[in-house]
Amino acid sequence: MTPPQPPPLPTAELHVHIEGTLEPELAFRLAARNRIALRHADLDALRRAYAFRDLQSFLDLYYELTAVLQRPEDFTDLAEAYLARAAAQGVRHAEVFVDPQAHTSRGVPLEVVFEGLGAAFATAEQRYGLTSQLIVCFLRDRDPAEAEALVPRLRPYRDLVVGVGLDSAEVGHPPELFERAYALAADEGLHRVAHAGEEGPPSYVWSALDRLGVERVDHGIRSLEDPALVARLRAEQLPLTVCPLSNVALRCVPDLTAHPLRRMLAAELAVTVNSDDPAYFGGYLHDNTAAVTAALGLTPGERQRLAENSFRASFLPAADKERHLVAVAAAARATASGA
Ligand code: ADE
Ligand code: ZN
Repeated sequence: MTPPQPPPLPTAELHVHIEGTLEPELAFRLAARNRIALRHADLDALRRAYAFRDLQSFLDLYYELTAVLQRPEDFTDLAEAYLARAAAQGVRHAEVFVDPQAHTSRGVPLEVVFEGLGAAFATAEQRYGLTSQLIVCFLRDRDPAEAEALVPRLRPYRDLVVGVGLDSAEVGHPPELFERAYALAADEGLHRVAHAGEEGPPSYVWSALDRLGVERVDHGIRSLEDPALVARLRAEQLPLTVCPLSNVALRCVPDLTAHPLRRMLAAELAVTVNSDDPAYFGGYLHDNTAAVTAALGLTPGERQRLAENSFRASFLPAADKERHLVAVAAAARATASGA
């Protein structure tokens, strides 16, 4: 029997792709609504496709299913479903990735994406007690000039968009190719993060830090291969948004018991736990925390540290961070006393 799991602590989700929250049932519902034929005959056939060899094999399905997202209401339904699930798992603030080029490249206007997502985000605090903003990711396997052209187009959406990121197929697409896009984003006052060290080598993490000026690294698990990099990340307390179930599903680590999170905590890195693409990898934020707690035997103190790190690493104003940190401490005390 598995031991009883502690309830979720209030947490900030800092690494979730909105397109990666598309559950198979919703994919079929939107396909029917938009009269789009999916390659998969039914739900079972689609679920069977959720066995990945690596990042690219996942991305192939992830981009294929974005075809069902056509109209603003499709994006609203997608975001509403995510926000409801996230709130039920203790998420109090979410900085959510979106891949606009995955949509504009198939003829869906940028306005449709932002209007649709924005409608759901606008009511999330009132409905679920959860604040939310977007981080616009550049697709690193496309021409960097596209990313550079995207930056000024974000101006009308500054209330919604808090920063830029870098995602998609990592190996062969190093961060420095996007130096100009990130400089433009910095000039616009946008925060900067990037996926690095998921499948790619530690040199990509160095490049994200030194050439892109990132404030957080997404994944970053391969940083452990480079002691000088670990020393730098520790000294600067530069946050790493770690996604345990994703790393297993994409075979970046063989299984959860071998996950480097415990070693990252022991190295005093500013790690957080996140869900990445929860509809594809078997769980939302607390599912990740609970799984890694069981597999690695994390202590209540370590779980509290992960939750605290998430708010400290967020792009929230200082007063909001403080308010959330007080709530984490209160929830951790209540859990310890069995309340
Ligand atoms: N896009 C969606 N999920 C991703 C991941 N885990 N790595 C890179 N790009 C992604
Ligand atoms: Zn990711």
